[in-house]
Formats: sequence, C-alpha cells, structure tokens
Amino acid sequence: MVKVLPSLLASDFLNLESEMKRMEEAGADIFHLDIMDGQFVPNISYGIPVCEAISKKTNIPLDVHLMTEDPEQFVEEFRDMGVDYLSFHIEATPHAHRLITHIQNNNMKAGIVLNPQTPVKDVEYLLDIVDFVLVMTVNPGFGGQSFIESGVKKIAELDSIRTRENYDYLIEVDGGVNDETARVCREAGADLLVSGSYLFKADNTKETIDKLRG
Ligand code: DX5
Ligand code: ZN
Repeated sequence: MVKVLPSLLASDFLNLESEMKRMEEAGADIFHLDIMDGQFVPNISYGIPVCEAISKKTNIPLDVHLMTEDPEQFVEEFRDMGVDYLSFHIEATPHAHRLITHIQNNNMKAGIVLNPQTPVKDVEYLLDIVDFVLVMTVNPGFGGQSFIESGVKKIAELDSIRTRENYDYLIEVDGGVNDETARVCREAGADLLVSGSYLFKADNTKETIDKLRG
C-alpha cells in the first residue's frame, strides 16, 4: 500500500499544530519535513527547534529531507527527537556510503535523494544498503512547482533494479505530486508520495489523501 506524506512546508506555519491535526485526522501516514540551508538550495525553511516541536506533537512517523550542504551534521539531533526516516542528497556529499551507515547506526532509516539532473546510476552502488531512494520530481528548494516528467523513468528504473537484484528499498517521490501525477508514480513503482501545496490546498483533505494513495 502506497503511503502519503504531507510536506509541512506547505502548511500555515502560524497554525502548525492544527494543520498537523488536520492531516493526521485525514489519515496521513508520515510527515515530511524539508530542511533547507540557503546553500544547497536557494531557500531557507526551518530548522532543528521547529522539528523538535513537531516531534513532540505527533505520533505518526517523521521523514526528514535534508537539502543542505554537510548533511553529516545533526544526525544525532534528529535521532534524539525520534525521527524515523532521514535522507540527504547524493550531490551534497562525497561520503554517501559512510553517511548511510551512520544514519542506520543511529536507528533511523537512511535515504538517498536524487535531483532531477542526477541519473540512477550515480546511486547504484548504494542500492544494496539504502532503506529508501527519494526521486525529486521538481528542482529542490520550493513548494508549488510543476512535476518534471523525466522522474517517472527513474522510478521505473529503480523499481526494475529492485526486482532484478531482490533489494528491498522503498521508492519515494517528492515534488508536484497531485492525483494525476501520483497515479503515474504509483504505476511506475513508487511507495511513498510526498505532497505539499496540492494536498494542503485541497477542500477535502481525507478524500485527497485517499485519492493520492490510489
Ligand atoms: C521541495 C520540497 C518538497 C515540497 C513539495 O524542495 O522537497 O517536499 O515541499 O511541495 P509540492 O508538493 O508543493 O511540490
Ligand atoms: Zn521534500
């Protein structure tokens, strides 16, 4: 069963707690938290104290997506707040293999993220150890952008490698996910669908989550 991950970047920050409740009551599976540093991506989102506050107010799992340089920093802080999934960009570090092991040694699921320009072959050597691969279907840094279709081929490629090699990583998709693009991603083999602006703007949250799940 596909899981739906609201991206809290699209929430009303002044009413974060009620926004989280709204998503939980509508059946959200996991919260997606976007960390941006103004260096790796041209935007700054929110940081450790906000994530800590979020972690204290929810019982559903947390998925932290690091769009930062030096993603090695703060692994312990995220572990301490009970984060379940922690991912970083392959483009952001020359030590991806080491960092994946480090995240897993801190009892979190480790994910590797691919920008739209990065081919699957760049992470192939990690596929036997990662817990999940996050395929970006927008250029990271902002919510509300349009889905980049070429991501679908990467999802299908990851799905076929997984079957061929008998690997068990999950495939996550982030960026421009709406009910139409969600369907295409599910058909290509995606397991985790992040949705920000589309989901938060929808009139009926529960219906929208159910539709995204397929
Ligand atoms: C973009 C972020 C996404 C973003 C998705 O850099 O990684 O998680 O919040 O937002 P939508 O669904 O609006 O594209
Ligand atoms: Zn994200």
